[in-house]
Amino acid sequence: MEYNEVVNLRRSIRKYENKDIDDLFIQKIIESAMKSPSAHNLQPWKVMITKGKLKNQIANLLIEKYQVYEDPSFIATANTIKNCNVLLLIFYEPKSKIRDFDILSLGSFVEHICLKATDLSLGSLWIANTNHISEEISKLVNVDLECISTVALGYKEFLPDERSRKNYNEVVIEDK
Ligand SMILES: Cc1cc2nc3c(=O)[nH]c(=O)nc-3n(C[C@H](O)[C@H](O)[C@H](O)COP(=O)(O)O)c2cc1C
Repeated sequence: MEYNEVVNLRRSIRKYENKDIDDLFIQKIIESAMKSPSAHNLQPWKVMITKGKLKNQIANLLIEKYQVYEDPSFIATANTIKNCNVLLLIFYEPKSKIRDFDILSLGSFVEHICLKATDLSLGSLWIANTNHISEEISKLVNVDLECISTVALGYKEFLPDERSRKNYNEVVIEDK
């Protein structure tokens, strides 16, 4: 796909078709993200690919957490996790003395995932609600690292309208 097409077609997808993603596509997505920049090239990322039962267990952990926070977006996100085909768990492997540096690098990594998924005509959803169950996820999958984000992937049911964006003038600060 051409660059502008990828950028313009990327959306947060919350409804997926019941169709498997080829393992090679998942590999391509992760390899593309591995090319993202990172502070001091420290690459503070690890990824676990989850599907089926494990993925649904993660969704259920989020539903349990809803009892504590009573945030309806937890339930909506949990439903998306159940509905998607693959849930990538993005782990933070501390590398820099400055946590912010690593976190910015991880943001770039996740954005690369979402853009490559779009390039392959797949839908994606960057999820931070799972940060509320980060410890529970690490325990469940037996990985001694912080789960800093998750990403839902799958074939989208439909392309939602573009969400509104700030105007150019609201974003750019005049040099006075
Ligand atoms: C760091 C981050 C965390 C997000 N977490 C969630 C989430 O937990 N659940 C969800 O449904 N969407 C989540 N989103 C998606 C945003 O709601 C979405 O990107 C935003 O509304 C703009 O819509 P668009 O991605 O379709 O352009 C997250 C996005 C980012 C960048």
